[in-house]
Amino acid sequence: MIMDKKWIDESVERFRELLVQQAERAEGLAAVKSQSKKNADRVVIGICDGDGIGSIIMREARRVLGYLMKAELESGAVMLKEIRGLTIENRLYHGKTVPDESLEDLMECDVLLKGPFTTPSGGTLKSANVALRGIFDLYANIRPVKVKEKGIDWTFFRENTEGEYILGGEGISGEGLAVDFRVITDEGTRRIARAAFEYAKSNGKKSVTVVTKSNIVKKTDGKFLDICYRVAADYPDIRVDEYYVDIMSANLINPEINAGFEVMVMPNLYGDILSDEGAQVQGSVGTAGSANLGDGFAIFEAIHGSAPRMIRDGIAEYANPTSILNAVEMMLRHIGYTAAADRLVRALEICTDKDAPVFVTGKADGATCAQFGDYVMKTLESV
Ligand code: IPM
Ligand code: MG
Repeated sequence: MIMDKKWIDESVERFRELLVQQAERAEGLAAVKSQSKKNADRVVIGICDGDGIGSIIMREARRVLGYLMKAELESGAVMLKEIRGLTIENRLYHGKTVPDESLEDLMECDVLLKGPFTTPSGGTLKSANVALRGIFDLYANIRPVKVKEKGIDWTFFRENTEGEYILGGEGISGEGLAVDFRVITDEGTRRIARAAFEYAKSNGKKSVTVVTKSNIVKKTDGKFLDICYRVAADYPDIRVDEYYVDIMSANLINPEINAGFEVMVMPNLYGDILSDEGAQVQGSVGTAGSANLGDGFAIFEAIHGSAPRMIRDGIAEYANPTSILNAVEMMLRHIGYTAAADRLVRALEICTDKDAPVFVTGKADGATCAQFGDYVMKTLESV
């Protein structure tokens, strides 16, 4: 029965609790101070394979990182720390999204390089990705996409802690009716907008495009758009424009205009969807890396998931490591090893050329992940 008064009363009470919780969070956000780096004299990189194809693509990431950071790893200026327990088996066993031992390990690191995590659909176990982004308040999810021959050079700035994700498991479901919640805060929007405009400014970009659906989702997207315009006022040299997410998804594959977009900023779920589309324009989701940045800790990963279908179909060895190698490049840049990052960019440019002799398709007709890794390692020697 839909009109169950008891259920409605309980749900209203639940909604009240959530509102209070989010109002407190929003207040706290405004007060968040920038966190200092944990290890003053060295950089500790947490590393974990994750699930599914994770161990296969991470094998290549480990090789490349080991090669580019050889001297620093030997001197101790850079240290790798294996993060215990971040596997779907262990998480299910403990019934914990992020097991205690994993969190303990992460607390000792400055950054994390990770393979994809499996998120079970249904059940009660929540996404470890989303949990970690929340725990470390990694509000800026940055996802670059480049297609040189088409003049495409996009950077997606996806808000990474709010929107549909923050209360994703807290919706209300009753007989004949379910309601989810979407949260946008002033400060949450301000900080992602500022990150996007700052990036545009320091990288010589001329425009920032704000993506919402504020004609329909009036309150939350309305706020997001409004605050982006307010932040834009501090950047008079950067053009700001806006599109609704539906037409934006068309624009990205419209060859007449898509090279005109540069930096795009958007709420969480639109960013999740449009960045997969962007990666596909670049070749596939197997090609795009991602940085999750906050004011202290940072996580670097591929934009795709653990690819259970590839495992099921027995083609996991053909997974494309380009995504995680691009994440390695972003991580190296983030921790200050710009020359090593530039070197990896040059090698990947050569190795992902459409006429390159080793080509990963993600299927058995292409090169294996390891063959591509060999090719990258060999190319690195000459760039
Ligand atoms: C991503 C992924 C995650 C997300 C999943 C694995 C929870 O799709 O990083 O884009 O939805 O954010
Ligand atoms: Mg996604």
